[in-house]
Amino acid sequence: MSRIVGIDLGTTNCCVAVVDGGKPRVIPNKHGYSTTPSVVAVTEAGQRIVGQIAVRQAVTNPEHTVQGAKRLMGRPFDSEEAQHAAAHASYRVIAGPNGDVRIVLHDKEHSVPELSAMFLQEMRVVAEDFTQERVDRAVVTVPAYFNDNQRQAVRDAGAIAGLEVVRILNEPTAAALAYGFGRAEPKTLAVYDLGGGTFDISIVRIDEEGEFHVVSTTGDSFLGGEDFDERLMDFLMKAFYRDNAIDLRTSPIALQRVRQAAQKAKAELSSVEQTDVSLPFVIATPETGPLHLEYTITREMLERLTADLVTRTLQICELGLSYAQLAPEHVDEVILVGGMTRMPAVQRAVEEFFGRPPCKGVHADEVVALGAALAAHAIEEERDTGLHDVTAHSLGIMTAGGRFDALIPAMEPVPTKVEELFTTSRDGQAALKVVVLQGQSEWAAENTPLGRFALTNLRPGPAGTVRVRVTFTIDEDGMFSVGAKDLDTGEEKVIDVLASSGLSDDEIERMMADSAEYLAHRRAEESKEDSRQACSRLIAKLEGVLPEAEKKMAWTPVGATAVEKAKKAVTAVKTGLDEADADALTKQHALLLRVEQMIERALEKAS
Ligand SMILES: Nc1ncnc2c1ncn2[C@@H]1O[C@H](COP(=O)(O)OP(=O)(O)OP(=O)(O)O)[C@@H](O)[C@H]1O
Ligand SMILES: [Mg+2]
Repeated sequence: MSRIVGIDLGTTNCCVAVVDGGKPRVIPNKHGYSTTPSVVAVTEAGQRIVGQIAVRQAVTNPEHTVQGAKRLMGRPFDSEEAQHAAAHASYRVIAGPNGDVRIVLHDKEHSVPELSAMFLQEMRVVAEDFTQERVDRAVVTVPAYFNDNQRQAVRDAGAIAGLEVVRILNEPTAAALAYGFGRAEPKTLAVYDLGGGTFDISIVRIDEEGEFHVVSTTGDSFLGGEDFDERLMDFLMKAFYRDNAIDLRTSPIALQRVRQAAQKAKAELSSVEQTDVSLPFVIATPETGPLHLEYTITREMLERLTADLVTRTLQICELGLSYAQLAPEHVDEVILVGGMTRMPAVQRAVEEFFGRPPCKGVHADEVVALGAALAAHAIEEERDTGLHDVTAHSLGIMTAGGRFDALIPAMEPVPTKVEELFTTSRDGQAALKVVVLQGQSEWAAENTPLGRFALTNLRPGPAGTVRVRVTFTIDEDGMFSVGAKDLDTGEEKVIDVLASSGLSDDEIERMMADSAEYLAHRRAEESKEDSRQACSRLIAKLEGVLPEAEKKMAWTPVGATAVEKAKKAVTAVKTGLDEADADALTKQHALLLRVEQMIERALEKAS
């Protein structure tokens, strides 16, 4: 069986880890970094690029560079969040065929799971290069506050990437697991995870047996570093408008430059008190000529611009504690996760709220992937993960008058299931429709619909006599499923999903094929590049020894011919090297090896 890796599929950064020699460790990418930016771009030539190189070209290719796609996972196009992205993103966001979100990159529409699959695939390549084994199974983490639609989108992303997602794990739970590794005492933890796009707070109890019990979890899947960036961007652009009467949002390139400058300034202000934002030639107009953006931003200014965002995380912390029925002083240790927790104002606020300094020994960027790797390893060894998680949202159905009837309350330990009895209300009623939703409101319309289900082909009978028992299940992944049985006949009922805003099976299959083709192409390109480099190395070596060989051998006719042949071969391979295809490269490599042997033998004889 292949190894199972742990993947933190972040809004801003992805990270992959495995257990190696009994310890979890992060696998660096080929640039040596432990995380890879969750940025994907398509170039003019239609080439896909992911990670650091995609970040580097974002300024010149903003319309075809995607960052922050995770915030759109599992959301319908008409949701507030998707509309926000459509208004603020540098790339084009449109409605998909299922009311879902599509992102257009060089005339090709991509679903959000498809884009996430590109990051999963990248992490897979990182892991395969390191382990030198095929990787096709993973534990993937998600924000604890993700609902069923968002989790389903992650599952779809895994399928598209050709990865079996063996478990979906909540990010703060994964962090707790990594924290607890090698630490034995029972404790109550608060995991405060403020990343690039999402916020989670989980209260986790580690018991005497080293088992992890999530007591409560809540959050906001649209609150994170990107919102901090936007505040600073708005500030800079407003100042620029005030000084120059030009709106930088009209230029995608200027906007992208302001975005990157804001991100950089924000991060710098975590360690220095003030920084200069300087964007020479940010825009030019016929009237004004080239204009430069230059402002000094202080830490205090940034804190003022984002104070309400920090306060909002604390309000959510309060809610999390109240769900757990705990006071801040009941928390023994506060764990900070996510890049945004490097901001001093965040650290101060959290410290004040919980009345204790946060734990220092946790790596905010890696701890989630490390926890995922630990869970993956347990599953690999068919051990219990020791994790007992809860669902962040109530699950229920719509009842008369548009009310929401919660069948499984929030904070219920998962896996769990509940049974509900449905009876026909009309004589001869052939079908029963059930609308399933997730959320906290008592009104169905304010909650998230997961799907409409129809129990069809019901037994004919007078009203009230046909009784169907429906079982609603939430599994360990926090995902929902439903089953039904005719109570009187014991017959299992067919359930049709009538609506979902995600992807159809056909679409997933097409995207899977695209993705597999990309990977095969990429692997072929990589191996071609390897042969090319091997040829280059041999050419350099031969060019180094040929002058000496010539001196020693050229005075005999046989020697002269050999040297001449070798020189010719080297020149021929060298000139055609850039254009050679994979087959030609293999042949040329073999030729160069023969030349090398011939020269070596001849030199041995000559000396
Ligand atoms: N030194 C720093 N000071 C302030 N913010 C920082 C610093 N370093 C990184 N960040 C911010 O942290 C965020 C990224 O954090 P992280 O990598 O933990 O997010 P993520 O895991 O990708 O996102 P999420 O968990 O929300 O899906 C970005 O918004 C980035 O600007
Ligand atoms: Mg994260």
